[in-house]
Amino acid sequence: MATGIFRATSQQWASRTLRVGAAPKLRTALTGQTLKRSTLSATAQWQQAVRPVLCASFHSSPFRLAPETAANPLKEPPKITAESITVGGKTYKTDSFTNVTPTVLEKTTRQLHLIPTHPIAIIKDLIYSAFPDFKHYETFSPVVTTKENFDDLCFSDDHPGRAVTDTYYVNEKIMLRTHTSAHQLKVMTEADKVLVTADVYRRDEIDASHYPVFHQMEGAQLFDAKTAVDDIRKSIAADTSAVSGSIHTTDTTVITPENPKQDCHDEAAMLATADHLKYSLNMMVRKLFSHEKDLQVRWIDAQFPFTSPSWEMEILYQGKWLEVLGCGVIRQDILINAGKSDKIGWAFGLGLERLALVLFGIPDIRLFWSQDERFLRQFEPSKIQKFKQFSKYPPCIKDISFWSNDDFHENNFCEIVRDIAGDIVEDVQLIDEFTHPKTKKRSVCYRINYRSMDRNVTNAEINELQEKLREEVVQRMKVELR
Ligand code: DAH
Repeated sequence: MATGIFRATSQQWASRTLRVGAAPKLRTALTGQTLKRSTLSATAQWQQAVRPVLCASFHSSPFRLAPETAANPLKEPPKITAESITVGGKTYKTDSFTNVTPTVLEKTTRQLHLIPTHPIAIIKDLIYSAFPDFKHYETFSPVVTTKENFDDLCFSDDHPGRAVTDTYYVNEKIMLRTHTSAHQLKVMTEADKVLVTADVYRRDEIDASHYPVFHQMEGAQLFDAKTAVDDIRKSIAADTSAVSGSIHTTDTTVITPENPKQDCHDEAAMLATADHLKYSLNMMVRKLFSHEKDLQVRWIDAQFPFTSPSWEMEILYQGKWLEVLGCGVIRQDILINAGKSDKIGWAFGLGLERLALVLFGIPDIRLFWSQDERFLRQFEPSKIQKFKQFSKYPPCIKDISFWSNDDFHENNFCEIVRDIAGDIVEDVQLIDEFTHPKTKKRSVCYRINYRSMDRNVTNAEINELQEKLREEVVQRMKVELR
Protein backbone atom coordinates (compact mmCIF):
# COMPACT_ATOMS: atom_id res chain seq x y z
CA MET A 1 0.00 0.00 0.00
CA ALA A 2 1.50 3.32 -1.02
CA THR A 3 1.79 5.94 1.67
CA GLY A 4 2.41 8.78 -0.74
CA ILE A 5 -0.86 10.62 -0.51
CA PHE A 6 -0.45 14.36 -0.73
CA ARG A 7 -0.51 16.01 2.65
CA ALA A 8 2.60 18.13 2.78
CA THR A 9 1.12 21.08 4.58
CA SER A 10 -2.35 20.12 5.49
CA GLN A 11 -4.39 22.65 7.37
CA GLN A 12 -6.80 19.97 8.46
CA TRP A 13 -4.46 18.63 11.02
CA ALA A 14 -6.05 20.80 13.64
CA SER A 15 -9.50 19.69 12.63
CA ARG A 16 -9.01 16.00 12.16
CA THR A 17 -11.24 13.68 14.01
CA LEU A 18 -10.17 10.68 15.95
CA ARG A 19 -11.07 7.17 14.85
CA VAL A 20 -9.75 4.84 17.50
CA GLY A 21 -9.00 1.28 16.55
CA ALA A 22 -8.99 2.02 12.85
CA ALA A 23 -6.55 0.52 10.39
CA PRO A 24 -3.18 2.26 10.58
CA LYS A 25 -3.61 3.88 7.19
CA LEU A 26 -6.95 5.62 7.52
CA ARG A 27 -6.92 8.98 5.87
CA THR A 28 -9.45 11.75 5.50
CA ALA A 29 -10.72 11.95 1.98
CA LEU A 30 -9.76 15.57 1.61
CA THR A 31 -6.33 15.80 3.02
CA GLY A 32 -4.79 12.40 2.96
CA GLN A 33 -4.07 13.00 6.62
CA THR A 34 -3.43 9.82 8.50
CA LEU A 35 -5.72 9.48 11.48
CA LYS A 36 -4.17 7.67 14.33
CA ARG A 37 -3.91 7.77 18.04
CA SER A 38 -0.98 7.05 20.24
CA THR A 39 -1.22 3.63 21.82
CA LEU A 40 1.92 4.10 23.89
CA SER A 41 2.55 6.13 26.95
CA ALA A 42 4.85 9.07 26.38
CA THR A 43 7.56 7.41 28.41
CA ALA A 44 7.37 4.17 26.48
CA GLN A 45 7.51 6.04 23.19
CA TRP A 46 10.54 7.99 24.25
CA GLN A 47 12.33 4.92 25.42
CA GLN A 48 11.35 2.98 22.39
CA ALA A 49 12.08 5.39 19.59
CA VAL A 50 13.93 8.47 20.61
CA ARG A 51 16.01 8.44 23.74
CA PRO A 52 18.74 6.20 22.26
CA VAL A 53 19.20 8.66 19.40
CA LEU A 54 19.43 11.67 21.65
CA CYS A 55 21.90 10.04 23.94
CA ALA A 56 23.91 8.62 21.08
CA SER A 57 24.18 12.00 19.44
CA PHE A 58 25.55 13.73 22.50
CA HIS A 59 29.21 13.35 21.62
CA SER A 60 29.02 13.58 17.87
CA SER A 61 26.45 16.24 17.19
CA PRO A 62 25.72 16.31 13.46
CA PHE A 63 24.81 20.00 13.32
CA ARG A 64 26.42 22.12 10.70
CA LEU A 65 26.80 25.85 11.16
CA ALA A 66 24.50 27.86 8.93
CA PRO A 67 26.42 30.30 6.71
CA GLU A 68 25.02 33.44 8.38
CA THR A 69 26.51 34.76 11.59
CA ALA A 70 24.86 34.51 14.97
CA ALA A 71 22.89 37.80 14.86
CA ASN A 72 19.77 35.66 14.70
CA PRO A 73 19.90 33.23 17.65
CA LEU A 74 18.02 30.68 15.56
CA LYS A 75 21.09 30.43 13.34
CA GLU A 76 23.10 29.02 16.25
CA PRO A 77 23.37 25.23 16.06
CA PRO A 78 21.17 23.54 18.66
CA LYS A 79 22.94 21.71 21.47
CA ILE A 80 21.61 18.48 22.76
CA THR A 81 22.47 16.31 25.73
CA ALA A 82 20.53 13.68 27.64
CA GLU A 83 19.57 16.34 30.25
CA SER A 84 18.96 19.45 28.20
CA ILE A 85 18.35 20.92 24.77
CA THR A 86 19.45 24.37 23.62
CA VAL A 87 17.62 25.92 20.67
CA GLY A 88 17.64 29.57 19.61
CA GLY A 89 19.97 30.45 22.48
CA LYS A 90 17.60 29.06 25.16
CA THR A 91 18.11 25.89 27.18
CA TYR A 92 15.30 23.52 28.16
CA LYS A 93 15.34 20.46 30.44
CA THR A 94 14.44 17.13 28.88
CA ASP A 95 12.00 14.71 30.51
CA SER A 96 10.05 11.58 29.70
CA PHE A 97 8.09 13.43 26.99
CA THR A 98 11.17 14.47 25.04
CA ASN A 99 11.04 13.12 21.52
CA VAL A 100 12.77 15.80 19.41
CA THR A 101 15.66 14.36 17.44
CA PRO A 102 18.94 15.90 16.28
CA THR A 103 17.90 15.59 12.62
CA VAL A 104 14.80 17.64 13.21
CA LEU A 105 16.41 20.21 15.53
CA GLU A 106 19.05 20.84 12.91
CA LYS A 107 16.31 22.11 10.58
CA THR A 108 15.46 24.97 12.97
CA THR A 109 18.60 26.81 11.82
CA ARG A 110 17.74 26.77 8.14
CA GLN A 111 14.98 29.45 8.04
CA LEU A 112 14.14 28.85 4.37
CA HIS A 113 11.43 31.50 4.44
CA LEU A 114 14.08 34.17 5.03
CA ILE A 115 16.17 33.34 1.92
CA PRO A 116 14.76 35.73 -0.75
CA THR A 117 15.56 33.46 -3.71
CA HIS A 118 14.04 30.36 -2.12
CA PRO A 119 10.64 29.22 -3.50
CA ILE A 120 9.17 29.25 0.02
CA ALA A 121 10.16 32.91 0.49
CA ILE A 122 9.01 33.81 -3.04
CA ILE A 123 5.51 32.47 -2.30
CA LYS A 124 5.59 34.21 1.08
CA ASP A 125 6.41 37.57 -0.52
CA LEU A 126 3.68 37.18 -3.13
CA ILE A 127 1.12 36.54 -0.41
CA TYR A 128 2.44 39.51 1.60
CA SER A 129 1.83 41.69 -1.46
CA ALA A 130 -1.88 40.74 -1.35
CA PHE A 131 -2.14 42.13 2.21
CA PRO A 132 -0.26 45.42 1.83
CA ASP A 133 -0.66 47.03 5.25
CA PHE A 134 -0.35 43.94 7.44
CA LYS A 135 2.37 43.65 10.08
CA HIS A 136 4.83 40.79 9.41
CA TYR A 137 6.32 38.43 11.97
CA GLU A 138 8.83 35.86 10.73
CA THR A 139 11.52 35.21 13.31
CA PHE A 140 9.63 33.58 16.18
CA SER A 141 11.49 30.66 17.76
CA PRO A 142 9.94 27.29 16.82
CA VAL A 143 10.02 26.34 20.50
CA VAL A 144 6.65 27.18 22.07
CA THR A 145 4.66 26.10 25.11
CA THR A 146 1.84 23.57 24.89
CA LYS A 147 -0.32 26.42 26.18
CA GLU A 148 0.50 28.56 23.14
CA ASN A 149 0.19 25.73 20.63
CA PHE A 150 -2.94 24.08 22.05
CA ASP A 151 -4.59 25.47 25.22
CA ASP A 152 -4.79 29.13 24.15
CA LEU A 153 -6.40 27.98 20.92
CA CYS A 154 -9.17 26.01 22.64
CA PHE A 155 -7.84 22.53 21.76
CA SER A 156 -9.48 19.84 23.87
CA ASP A 157 -7.25 17.94 26.30
CA ASP A 158 -7.55 14.76 24.27
CA HIS A 159 -7.08 16.29 20.84
CA PRO A 160 -5.02 13.85 18.73
CA GLY A 161 -2.63 16.64 17.69
CA ARG A 162 -1.22 16.52 21.21
CA ALA A 163 -0.10 12.87 20.88
CA VAL A 164 3.61 12.18 21.22
CA THR A 165 3.38 10.17 18.04
CA ASP A 166 2.39 13.29 16.10
CA THR A 167 4.18 16.15 17.83
CA TYR A 168 7.80 16.87 18.74
CA TYR A 169 8.14 17.56 22.46
CA VAL A 170 11.17 19.20 24.06
CA ASN A 171 9.58 18.30 27.38
CA GLU A 172 6.08 17.91 28.77
CA LYS A 173 5.27 21.64 28.54
CA ILE A 174 7.58 22.74 25.72
CA MET A 175 7.35 21.66 22.10
CA LEU A 176 8.16 22.52 18.50
CA ARG A 177 5.16 24.45 17.14
CA THR A 178 2.93 22.34 14.92
CA HIS A 179 1.30 25.38 13.33
CA THR A 180 1.74 29.14 13.08
CA SER A 181 -1.57 29.58 14.95
CA ALA A 182 0.59 29.13 18.07
CA HIS A 183 1.51 32.83 17.71
CA GLN A 184 -1.95 34.14 16.91
CA LEU A 185 -2.82 35.34 20.39
CA LYS A 186 0.47 37.14 20.94
CA VAL A 187 0.50 39.01 17.63
CA MET A 188 -3.13 40.05 17.98
CA THR A 189 -2.24 41.85 21.20
CA GLU A 190 0.09 44.02 19.09
CA ALA A 191 -1.79 44.73 15.85
CA ASP A 192 -5.14 44.28 14.09
CA LYS A 193 -3.69 43.11 10.76
CA VAL A 194 -1.01 40.46 11.08
CA LEU A 195 0.85 37.85 9.06
CA VAL A 196 3.10 35.26 10.73
CA THR A 197 5.43 33.04 8.68
CA ALA A 198 7.39 30.20 10.23
CA ASP A 199 8.73 26.66 10.04
CA VAL A 200 6.41 24.13 11.72
CA TYR A 201 7.11 20.59 12.85
CA ARG A 202 5.02 17.39 12.80
CA ARG A 203 6.05 13.78 13.20
CA ASP A 204 5.04 12.02 10.04
CA GLU A 205 5.74 9.36 7.51
CA ILE A 206 8.24 9.69 4.66
CA ASP A 207 7.65 10.25 0.96
CA ALA A 208 7.88 12.87 -1.79
CA SER A 209 5.22 15.08 -0.20
CA HIS A 210 5.75 14.44 3.52
CA TYR A 211 8.51 16.01 5.52
CA PRO A 212 8.65 16.55 9.29
CA VAL A 213 9.27 20.27 8.81
CA PHE A 214 7.36 22.62 6.58
CA HIS A 215 6.31 26.27 6.48
CA GLN A 216 3.02 27.96 7.21
CA MET A 217 1.62 31.42 7.08
CA GLU A 218 -1.02 32.66 9.46
CA GLY A 219 -3.06 35.78 8.77
CA ALA A 220 -5.60 37.63 10.90
CA GLN A 221 -7.58 40.85 10.66
CA LEU A 222 -9.70 42.43 13.38
CA PHE A 223 -12.52 44.98 13.11
CA ASP A 224 -14.39 47.04 15.69
CA ALA A 225 -17.34 44.80 16.47
CA LYS A 226 -19.80 47.71 16.60
CA THR A 227 -18.93 49.23 13.22
CA ALA A 228 -17.73 46.08 11.40
CA VAL A 229 -20.61 45.91 8.90
CA ASP A 230 -20.10 49.47 7.67
CA ASP A 231 -16.32 49.39 7.83
CA ILE A 232 -16.16 46.18 5.82
CA ARG A 233 -18.60 47.37 3.16
CA LYS A 234 -16.57 50.56 2.72
CA SER A 235 -13.25 48.73 2.65
CA ILE A 236 -14.37 46.27 -0.07
CA ALA A 237 -15.88 49.11 -2.12
CA ALA A 238 -12.65 51.08 -1.85
CA ASP A 239 -10.44 48.17 -2.90
CA THR A 240 -8.76 49.08 -6.14
CA SER A 241 -6.23 46.25 -6.28
CA ALA A 242 -5.86 45.18 -9.88
CA VAL A 243 -6.38 41.51 -10.57
CA SER A 244 -5.97 39.88 -13.93
CA GLY A 245 -8.11 36.98 -15.10
CA SER A 246 -11.42 35.84 -13.72
CA ILE A 247 -12.27 33.81 -10.68
CA HIS A 248 -15.20 31.42 -10.33
CA THR A 249 -16.13 30.66 -6.78
CA THR A 250 -18.51 27.99 -5.57
CA ASP A 251 -19.57 28.47 -2.00
CA THR A 252 -21.79 25.74 -0.61
CA THR A 253 -21.09 26.56 3.02
CA VAL A 254 -23.97 27.03 5.45
CA ILE A 255 -24.12 28.16 9.04
CA THR A 256 -25.42 25.13 10.90
CA PRO A 257 -25.18 23.79 14.47
CA GLU A 258 -22.12 21.82 13.24
CA ASN A 259 -20.44 24.98 11.98
CA PRO A 260 -22.18 27.65 14.03
CA LYS A 261 -22.10 31.37 14.60
CA GLN A 262 -20.74 32.11 18.07
CA ASP A 263 -23.49 33.15 20.48
CA CYS A 264 -21.66 36.34 21.41
CA HIS A 265 -21.55 37.56 17.80
CA ASP A 266 -24.03 39.81 16.10
CA GLU A 267 -25.15 37.94 12.97
CA ALA A 268 -24.64 40.82 10.55
CA ALA A 269 -21.13 41.51 11.91
CA MET A 270 -20.20 37.84 11.66
CA LEU A 271 -21.48 37.57 8.08
CA ALA A 272 -19.64 40.73 7.07
CA THR A 273 -16.43 39.39 8.63
CA ALA A 274 -16.88 36.11 6.76
CA ASP A 275 -17.44 37.97 3.49
CA HIS A 276 -14.34 40.04 4.03
CA LEU A 277 -12.31 36.94 4.80
CA LYS A 278 -13.43 35.10 1.69
CA TYR A 279 -13.07 38.21 -0.47
CA SER A 280 -9.50 38.82 0.78
CA LEU A 281 -8.47 35.21 0.25
CA ASN A 282 -10.05 35.02 -3.21
CA MET A 283 -8.02 38.08 -4.19
CA MET A 284 -4.90 36.55 -2.71
CA VAL A 285 -5.12 33.31 -4.70
CA ARG A 286 -6.06 35.21 -7.85
CA LYS A 287 -2.72 36.96 -7.47
CA LEU A 288 -0.77 33.76 -6.75
CA PHE A 289 -2.28 31.80 -9.63
CA SER A 290 -2.11 34.72 -12.05
CA HIS A 291 -1.14 32.40 -14.91
CA GLU A 292 -4.48 30.53 -14.59
CA LYS A 293 -6.91 32.45 -16.79
CA ASP A 294 -10.05 31.09 -15.24
CA LEU A 295 -9.39 30.24 -11.63
CA GLN A 296 -11.90 27.88 -9.97
CA VAL A 297 -12.20 28.20 -6.22
CA ARG A 298 -14.54 26.36 -3.89
CA TRP A 299 -15.38 27.00 -0.27
CA ILE A 300 -16.35 24.15 2.02
CA ASP A 301 -17.32 23.86 5.68
CA ALA A 302 -14.62 22.83 8.15
CA GLN A 303 -13.93 22.70 11.86
CA PHE A 304 -11.05 24.12 13.84
CA PRO A 305 -10.89 24.54 17.60
CA PHE A 306 -10.00 28.23 17.30
CA THR A 307 -12.55 29.47 14.74
CA SER A 308 -16.32 29.27 14.35
CA PRO A 309 -17.67 29.15 11.77
CA SER A 310 -14.72 27.64 9.87
CA TRP A 311 -14.04 26.94 6.20
CA GLU A 312 -11.51 25.59 3.79
CA MET A 313 -10.61 26.87 0.39
CA GLU A 314 -9.81 24.57 -2.49
CA ILE A 315 -8.54 25.42 -5.96
CA LEU A 316 -9.03 23.40 -9.11
CA TYR A 317 -5.51 22.93 -10.38
CA GLN A 318 -4.63 20.67 -13.29
CA GLY A 319 -7.88 18.78 -12.90
CA LYS A 320 -7.60 18.17 -9.15
CA TRP A 321 -9.04 20.02 -6.19
CA LEU A 322 -6.11 21.28 -4.15
CA GLU A 323 -6.73 22.12 -0.53
CA VAL A 324 -5.11 25.50 0.00
CA LEU A 325 -6.05 26.85 3.41
CA GLY A 326 -8.19 26.72 6.52
CA CYS A 327 -9.84 29.80 7.99
CA GLY A 328 -12.75 31.16 9.97
CA VAL A 329 -14.13 33.70 12.41
CA ILE A 330 -11.82 33.85 15.43
CA ARG A 331 -13.19 32.45 18.67
CA GLN A 332 -14.07 35.37 20.87
CA ASP A 333 -12.34 33.79 23.89
CA ILE A 334 -9.03 34.17 22.06
CA LEU A 335 -9.71 37.83 21.32
CA ILE A 336 -10.69 38.40 24.95
CA ASN A 337 -7.40 36.81 26.07
CA ALA A 338 -5.57 39.05 23.62
CA GLY A 339 -7.22 42.10 25.24
CA LYS A 340 -9.39 42.70 22.16
CA SER A 341 -12.89 41.95 23.47
CA ASP A 342 -14.46 44.80 21.49
CA LYS A 343 -13.26 43.37 18.17
CA ILE A 344 -14.47 40.69 15.77
CA GLY A 345 -12.00 39.08 13.41
CA TRP A 346 -11.02 36.46 10.89
CA ALA A 347 -7.94 34.23 10.65
CA PHE A 348 -6.47 31.86 8.10
CA GLY A 349 -3.57 29.42 7.94
CA LEU A 350 -1.92 28.01 4.85
CA GLY A 351 0.97 25.73 3.97
CA LEU A 352 3.67 27.29 1.82
CA GLU A 353 5.26 24.04 0.54
CA ARG A 354 1.96 22.84 -0.87
CA LEU A 355 1.62 26.02 -2.92
CA ALA A 356 5.30 26.09 -3.89
CA LEU A 357 5.23 22.44 -5.04
CA VAL A 358 2.46 23.09 -7.54
CA LEU A 359 3.37 26.63 -8.58
CA PHE A 360 7.05 25.86 -9.22
CA GLY A 361 6.38 22.26 -10.36
CA ILE A 362 8.77 20.85 -7.75
CA PRO A 363 8.53 17.03 -7.70
CA ASP A 364 9.92 16.23 -4.25
CA ILE A 365 9.49 18.09 -0.97
CA ARG A 366 13.08 17.29 0.06
CA LEU A 367 14.31 19.59 -2.71
CA PHE A 368 13.32 22.61 -0.62
CA TRP A 369 16.06 21.57 1.80
CA SER A 370 18.66 20.90 -0.89
CA GLN A 371 21.89 22.86 -0.66
CA ASP A 372 22.65 21.93 -4.27
CA GLU A 373 23.42 25.00 -6.36
CA ARG A 374 21.55 23.42 -9.25
CA PHE A 375 18.41 23.92 -7.17
CA LEU A 376 19.15 27.19 -5.40
CA ARG A 377 20.42 29.05 -8.49
CA GLN A 378 17.20 28.48 -10.43
CA PHE A 379 15.04 31.07 -8.69
CA GLU A 380 14.76 34.85 -8.45
CA PRO A 381 12.96 36.95 -5.84
CA SER A 382 9.27 37.67 -6.57
CA LYS A 383 9.12 35.40 -9.59
CA ILE A 384 7.34 32.08 -10.03
CA GLN A 385 9.14 29.96 -12.62
CA LYS A 386 8.97 26.26 -13.39
CA PHE A 387 11.61 24.11 -11.76
CA LYS A 388 14.00 22.49 -14.23
CA GLN A 389 14.75 18.93 -13.19
CA PHE A 390 18.45 18.21 -12.92
CA SER A 391 19.68 14.65 -13.29
CA LYS A 392 18.47 12.41 -10.48
CA TYR A 393 20.87 10.00 -8.90
CA PRO A 394 19.82 6.34 -9.00
CA PRO A 395 17.77 4.91 -6.12
CA CYS A 396 18.72 1.98 -3.94
CA ILE A 397 15.75 -0.04 -2.68
CA LYS A 398 15.72 -2.23 0.44
CA ASP A 399 12.92 -4.08 2.21
CA ILE A 400 12.54 -4.82 5.88
CA SER A 401 9.95 -7.28 7.30
CA PHE A 402 9.07 -7.86 10.90
CA TRP A 403 6.36 -9.06 13.25
CA SER A 404 4.91 -5.90 14.70
CA ASN A 405 3.43 -5.58 18.19
CA ASP A 406 0.65 -3.63 19.90
CA ASP A 407 2.94 -0.68 20.62
CA PHE A 408 4.12 -0.37 17.05
CA HIS A 409 3.46 3.01 15.48
CA GLU A 410 4.48 3.85 11.93
CA ASN A 411 5.62 7.37 12.84
CA ASN A 412 8.08 5.90 15.35
CA PHE A 413 9.40 3.57 12.67
CA CYS A 414 9.79 6.46 10.22
CA GLU A 415 11.57 8.49 12.87
CA ILE A 416 14.16 5.72 13.27
CA VAL A 417 14.61 5.53 9.49
CA ARG A 418 15.08 9.28 9.33
CA ASP A 419 17.54 9.30 12.18
CA ILE A 420 19.68 6.66 10.59
CA ALA A 421 19.50 7.79 6.97
CA GLY A 422 18.35 11.46 7.07
CA ASP A 423 17.44 13.02 3.74
CA ILE A 424 18.81 10.00 1.84
CA VAL A 425 15.42 8.38 2.37
CA GLU A 426 13.11 9.34 -0.41
CA ASP A 427 10.17 7.19 0.51
CA VAL A 428 8.98 4.52 2.96
CA GLN A 429 6.07 2.35 1.84
CA LEU A 430 4.17 -0.40 3.55
CA ILE A 431 4.21 -2.98 0.73
CA ASP A 432 2.82 -6.01 2.51
CA GLU A 433 1.01 -6.92 5.70
CA PHE A 434 -0.81 -9.99 6.93
CA THR A 435 -1.93 -11.60 10.17
CA HIS A 436 -0.74 -15.11 10.88
CA PRO A 437 -3.87 -17.31 11.09
CA LYS A 438 -2.66 -19.26 14.12
CA THR A 439 -0.49 -16.91 16.16
CA LYS A 440 -2.53 -13.81 15.17
CA LYS A 441 0.76 -11.96 14.93
CA ARG A 442 0.84 -9.13 12.37
CA SER A 443 3.64 -9.13 9.85
CA VAL A 444 4.62 -5.97 7.99
CA CYS A 445 7.04 -5.33 5.18
CA TYR A 446 8.30 -1.83 4.47
CA ARG A 447 10.13 -0.85 1.30
CA ILE A 448 12.69 1.89 1.78
CA ASN A 449 13.77 3.89 -1.21
CA TYR A 450 17.18 5.42 -0.57
CA ARG A 451 18.24 8.15 -2.98
CA SER A 452 20.37 11.20 -2.45
CA MET A 453 19.44 14.52 -4.02
CA ASP A 454 23.06 15.57 -4.22
CA ARG A 455 25.23 12.52 -4.96
CA ASN A 456 25.46 8.84 -5.92
CA VAL A 457 24.89 6.41 -3.08
CA THR A 458 26.74 3.08 -3.09
CA ASN A 459 25.11 -0.25 -2.38
CA ALA A 460 27.70 -0.91 0.33
CA GLU A 461 26.85 2.34 2.12
CA ILE A 462 23.11 1.61 1.96
CA ASN A 463 23.63 -1.96 3.17
CA GLU A 464 25.36 -0.54 6.19
CA LEU A 465 22.45 1.84 6.88
CA GLN A 466 19.93 -0.95 6.37
CA GLU A 467 21.83 -3.21 8.75
CA LYS A 468 21.83 -0.44 11.35
CA LEU A 469 18.10 0.04 10.80
CA ARG A 470 17.46 -3.68 11.34
CA GLU A 471 19.34 -3.55 14.62
CA GLU A 472 17.70 -0.35 15.83
CA VAL A 473 14.11 -1.35 15.10
CA VAL A 474 14.59 -4.52 17.12
CA GLN A 475 16.23 -2.65 19.97
CA ARG A 476 13.93 0.34 20.09
CA MET A 477 10.59 -1.05 18.97
CA LYS A 478 10.97 -4.55 20.36
CA VAL A 479 9.76 -6.08 17.08
CA GLU A 480 10.90 -9.42 15.71
CA LEU A 481 12.61 -9.44 12.31
CA ARG A 482 11.42 -12.00 9.80
N1 DAH B 1 -3.57 25.99 12.20
C1 DAH B 1 -4.35 25.22 11.26
C2 DAH B 1 -3.55 23.95 10.91
O1 DAH B 1 -2.35 23.99 10.85
C3 DAH B 1 -4.67 26.04 10.03
C4 DAH B 1 -5.66 27.12 10.31
C5 DAH B 1 -7.01 26.89 10.16
C6 DAH B 1 -5.24 28.38 10.76
C7 DAH B 1 -7.94 27.86 10.42
C8 DAH B 1 -6.18 29.38 11.03
C9 DAH B 1 -7.54 29.12 10.84
O2 DAH B 1 -5.85 30.58 11.46
O3 DAH B 1 -8.45 30.11 11.10
O4 DAH B 1 -4.12 22.92 10.71
